[in-house]
Amino acid sequence: MTAATVPDLPDEPTGRPAAVFTLLSEYASALDNVRAGGRTVGFVPTMGALHAGHQALVARAASECDVVAVSIFVNPLQFGDPDDLERYPRYPDADVMAAGDAGATFVLMPEVAEMYPAFPAPVPTAVTVSGLADRWEGAARPGHFSGVATVVAKLFAITGRCRAYFGEKDYQQLAVVRRMANDLSFPVEVVGCPTVRDDDGLALSSRNVRLSPDERRAAAVIPQALAAGARAITEGEYRPSMVEALMSQVIAEEPAVELDYAVVVDGNDLTPAIALRPDRPLRLLLAARVGGVRLIDNLDPAAGSNGIPAPQRSVSYAATPINPTQPVMVHRSRPVPAPAADQKKEK
Ligand code: PAJ
Repeated sequence: MTAATVPDLPDEPTGRPAAVFTLLSEYASALDNVRAGGRTVGFVPTMGALHAGHQALVARAASECDVVAVSIFVNPLQFGDPDDLERYPRYPDADVMAAGDAGATFVLMPEVAEMYPAFPAPVPTAVTVSGLADRWEGAARPGHFSGVATVVAKLFAITGRCRAYFGEKDYQQLAVVRRMANDLSFPVEVVGCPTVRDDDGLALSSRNVRLSPDERRAAAVIPQALAAGARAITEGEYRPSMVEALMSQVIAEEPAVELDYAVVVDGNDLTPAIALRPDRPLRLLLAARVGGVRLIDNLDPAAGSNGIPAPQRSVSYAATPINPTQPVMVHRSRPVPAPAADQKKEK
């Protein structure tokens, strides 16, 4: 693309992207021009169906960088299940508006053939991040993180020097991307941003639109389980197995939600935590199925409630006894009776 076709950038945000690119070469030279003019680039990769969580990343990028590029590409390499790929929500027009509203300057929306010319033939060059990507989501979804690392490496290569914003919502993905960018020496600073939640604590996700109203209500047990685990740690529990049992117990109270894993891990390398020492960074990771939808969430137990409201039904937890050979009491109090008018809403 010649310099003449690169859009002029407005001095003030307009609420609309200055340009939407479908060709990688045009997008790359627009960003080269931005940097040549001495301006910095923020990059937010997404798969579209943008919600307030994505918009928070774009807004953060806009507050820290001169120009913000948002990519919208439903990456087939990271979906193991063809049905999941097929049913992934797609709203391209609304997405361009939502990206612009949040402060995006450029939007990249490439076709699959532009990203992977030989597709559906297997992509011959792929990126794998061993170890970190093999656990938890990697074990549950073989090939998923290789698909993520491959597309993000490609997007980093096309975008060039930038700060790239990722959500802590996908905590393992953030760790994998950080590792990949570092190991392959991309000129990209990876920035992690806090999870944006709904009022009941459920992390916003493009997949939430696939939940029925009943499933959506039931899904609130996911952040509640994480919050219960975090509270146990704050109250002195030091055995990961007890915290994990407590989180499973909270999920088990909700029959519509089927737990996949609820674990306490080292916050850096995501290996299972051995003992919960306050001087080590920790993370609670949880994956569960609600109807046909798989949801993931996580929590830093040292960071307070993280926007998760206090439970409606109390979960009580006895702090770690002085004698560590004694069993720790984990018990739930009986549900607080709901007022008659609300009772039919209870599951
Ligand atoms: P997607 O699920 O669209 O998410 C894009 C970015 O938004 C990711 O960094 C994700 O962690 C972040 N995000 C999603 N929900 C969030 C929430 N509730 N709060 C804060 N951030 C949130 O993640 C992907 O796409 C893809 O794997 C991708 C990295 C684009 C590669 O294809």
